[in-house]
Amino acid sequence: MATSSTPSFSSPAPPPSSSSSSSSSSASANNYDIPWVEKYRPTRVSDVVGNADAVSRLQVIARDGNMPNVILSGPPGTGKTTSILALAHELLGPNYREAVLELNASDDRGIDVVRNKIKMFAQKKVTLSPGRHKIVILDEADSMTSGAQQALRRTMEIYSNTTRFALACNTSSKIIEPIQSRCALVRFSRLSDQEILSRLMIVVAAEKVPYVPEGIEAIIFTADGDMRQALNNLQATFSGFRFVNQENVFKVCDQPHPLHVKNMVRNVLEGRFDDACSGLKQLYDLGYSPTDIITTLFRIIKNYDMAEYLKLEFLKETGFAHMRICDGVGSFLQLSGLLAKLALVRETAKAP
Ligand SMILES: Nc1ncnc2c1ncn2[C@@H]1O[C@H](COP(=O)(O)OP(=O)(O)OP(=O)(O)O)[C@@H](O)[C@H]1O
Ligand SMILES: [Mg+2]
Repeated sequence: MATSSTPSFSSPAPPPSSSSSSSSSSASANNYDIPWVEKYRPTRVSDVVGNADAVSRLQVIARDGNMPNVILSGPPGTGKTTSILALAHELLGPNYREAVLELNASDDRGIDVVRNKIKMFAQKKVTLSPGRHKIVILDEADSMTSGAQQALRRTMEIYSNTTRFALACNTSSKIIEPIQSRCALVRFSRLSDQEILSRLMIVVAAEKVPYVPEGIEAIIFTADGDMRQALNNLQATFSGFRFVNQENVFKVCDQPHPLHVKNMVRNVLEGRFDDACSGLKQLYDLGYSPTDIITTLFRIIKNYDMAEYLKLEFLKETGFAHMRICDGVGSFLQLSGLLAKLALVRETAKAP
């Protein structure tokens, strides 16, 4: 099994109490259908890749116990749920089942649940070693209604001797201020390409995936700092084509091919506006949405090797066009208008 070949995926901890992954432990672990995101979910805080500051703070908590109430906030697929689960396992070990209450957006978390289930759990007596507390994990807490969050306020204080709360969310501003003030905020950010690469290579080796470096590069590009997306794209490409190269990745991920978009930018920069327009038309006719096209365009421009002042102007114009598209004006005209703007920017920048 892959798990034995690398230390970072060592001995899976007892499965989380509520989630469906409980069925994925030992018996069915040989099944090749397990999503790799679950199969390679780190079980120890120290195995979580990236966000060094956040992870080291959690490691200190795992070592010393006495967990404060925490909010983990950051973009999807960066390791928030993973870190909380790993932390709870490390703190509570065999007591995990009875000392952890895990609720996520798929559970009912209205005001009644806070009043009954969470309060009952907080009142429950569980014998733990000194310095350890029961933990309530509220995953995807930004989807809790503010009424339910309000109802949490006093509960968090009254039972703080025995029970601590760990909240995970994408946008911390959706957590009401009084809860924020009771918690230590741990921020996660998108993972760097290097961090994703290091994790991907471990999985690639464990699963014996045949690849060329450009294929892995393409996966990292499409993932845009989201580890879950990277692993899912890797698995999708592997199960679809059995070989990871650039072409297969972009077929599976169904994003505009960056090379194509890069050509478009080059054409603008070198004054071939008509070619740039026909490149855009081709992409549009392939059925990519304006949002897909403009997101890729933005990332290409960000990494394009060009004069900085020009790059900043290009990014500004792209940002404005993106805003209009988000407002609902997602027409081809918007996109070709953007190309014209970029060409104009380049002309005026050249003039003096
Ligand atoms: N920092 C990381 N290190 C290693 N693996 C990671 C990391 N982040 C994500 N993963 C992988 O991606 C999967 C999903 O991660 P996780 O559930 O922790 O994301 P999340 O931050 O909670 O996202 P969401 O905001 O969507 O809930 C994990 O099972 C794991 O395989
Ligand atoms: Mg999560």
